[in-house]
Amino acid sequence: MNELTDTYDAFPYPGHAFPRSHPGRMAAQGVLRGLAPPTVEAARVLELGCGDGGNLVPMALGLPRGKFLGIDRNVAALERARELAAALELTNVEFRAGDLEALECLDTFDYVVAHGVYSWVAPRARDHLLAIAHGALTQDGLLYLSYNTKPGGHLRQVVRELMQFATREATDAHEIVARARSAVKLVAGAQQPGDVYGAFLDEYLTRVLERSEAGLFHDDLETWNDPVYVTEIVNHAARHGLRFLAEADLHESSMGTLAPETADALDELEPRTEVEQEQALDFLRLRMYRQTLFTLDGAKQPQVPVPRNVEALNAYSPLRPVDPDATLHDASLVEFEDRRGARLSTDHPDVKNALAKLAGAWPGPVRIADLTDASDDAGALRQAILGGHAAGLVQLTTHAPRLASAPSDKPRASPLARAQAAAGADEVTNLKHERIQVSDVMGKELIALLDGTRDHEALTQAMGDGGAGTEAECRLAASLARLADLGLLVL
Ligand SMILES: C[S@@+](CC[C@H](N)C(=O)[O-])C[C@H]1O[C@@H](n2cnc3c(N)ncnc32)[C@H](O)[C@@H]1O
Repeated sequence: MNELTDTYDAFPYPGHAFPRSHPGRMAAQGVLRGLAPPTVEAARVLELGCGDGGNLVPMALGLPRGKFLGIDRNVAALERARELAAALELTNVEFRAGDLEALECLDTFDYVVAHGVYSWVAPRARDHLLAIAHGALTQDGLLYLSYNTKPGGHLRQVVRELMQFATREATDAHEIVARARSAVKLVAGAQQPGDVYGAFLDEYLTRVLERSEAGLFHDDLETWNDPVYVTEIVNHAARHGLRFLAEADLHESSMGTLAPETADALDELEPRTEVEQEQALDFLRLRMYRQTLFTLDGAKQPQVPVPRNVEALNAYSPLRPVDPDATLHDASLVEFEDRRGARLSTDHPDVKNALAKLAGAWPGPVRIADLTDASDDAGALRQAILGGHAAGLVQLTTHAPRLASAPSDKPRASPLARAQAAAGADEVTNLKHERIQVSDVMGKELIALLDGTRDHEALTQAMGDGGAGTEAECRLAASLARLADLGLLVL
């Protein structure tokens, strides 16, 4: 496609936190299946293809007793990662240059993460990636891989090949992106209304136009972008002594919003194993992308997730009663709703009370054992929590970050979010390893000021809010409450 020696020098690839790759989230999926993954708070974590540390640095900051190593081939990205770690005075994270194709055996690690790497590197590097992960994992350790998958990947390939064709003569990275965008626009615009191909290209057009140059260049136009069926990657991993554990979030393996007859359709495809069940679901959903967990082949055999295993975990849930005056203590049916409008109904008083406690603790987690201890029907509660998790309404983790659920007198934002906001980033990382959009200048200014030294009056002054006293105070209070709700304020 082009002659660049390292395409990642052409456009720096901005790193991010990927919530499902956090060891706490990975461990929770292991615990659900009866495994005993290593303690996250003191874990040794390896990230292969770590880029600029956007994923590893927040983990290292949030788990100060852990030890973190990031490996990448791109020296400039590693330099940015080291600068960020130094700015945050982290001493538990190291970034090393290394080529996946030539990397020797590393130390041992409890969690190995490779996000955005497997599908985007040469086959030899892909093979070595699995060999390195196998060699590095401790007995109960977990591996996280994200990759493009088929059958949905076939559709992406159509657009990728169109863009590659349109940019075959281009060598400048910016020109490649510009030509790729206009090619998709042109071909989409040439379709007749109602045409299936036109509808499909329209869908892509938004993606191609809205993506950052770096995102489009590296994710869609990299030299390598190979989607694989889940059955293929599982076989590949098995050749390296690694066993499929689960998708990184149970929600991805549930029927979710698919129509009830879908379960029948799935049975018709006669999946004989869990992996074949996953594969059948991918055909039903036309899945394009996966985040999958693996264990060592010889590790303890996982079970299917069972409710009693949630007992050892922490839960987060933003669900709130749709009717704020709903009665929780009787057997009346109450509907709960999350921020995206997804709903769950229950008439079980203990489940209703537990959901109310989770809402009260939001954005922080609650120990599920504390909920079941307070219940006469712990079994029903565990079942409801597991069901809520499978529905994507309750998040599970073994790690409980120290989050403020309301602003204090002198609020303090995560030092990483402060550094990101001060540098003008449109996105900051919260204490739950999630990406939070902050596109307005005022929001960034406020986050950058929240170092725990300023009270509300000092913050109003520093923000230069010239409005009338109480109005300015109300605006600040609302903004701070919002930042707390987003999991950005430290306890
Ligand atoms: C698509 S980026 C993903 C970066 C980061 N993990 C993320 O998801 O934001 C792929 C990364 O893999 C690195 N990479 C590609 N080929 C490599 C190789 N052979 N050895 C080591 N790193 C490689 C690139 O430098 C780049 O940082």
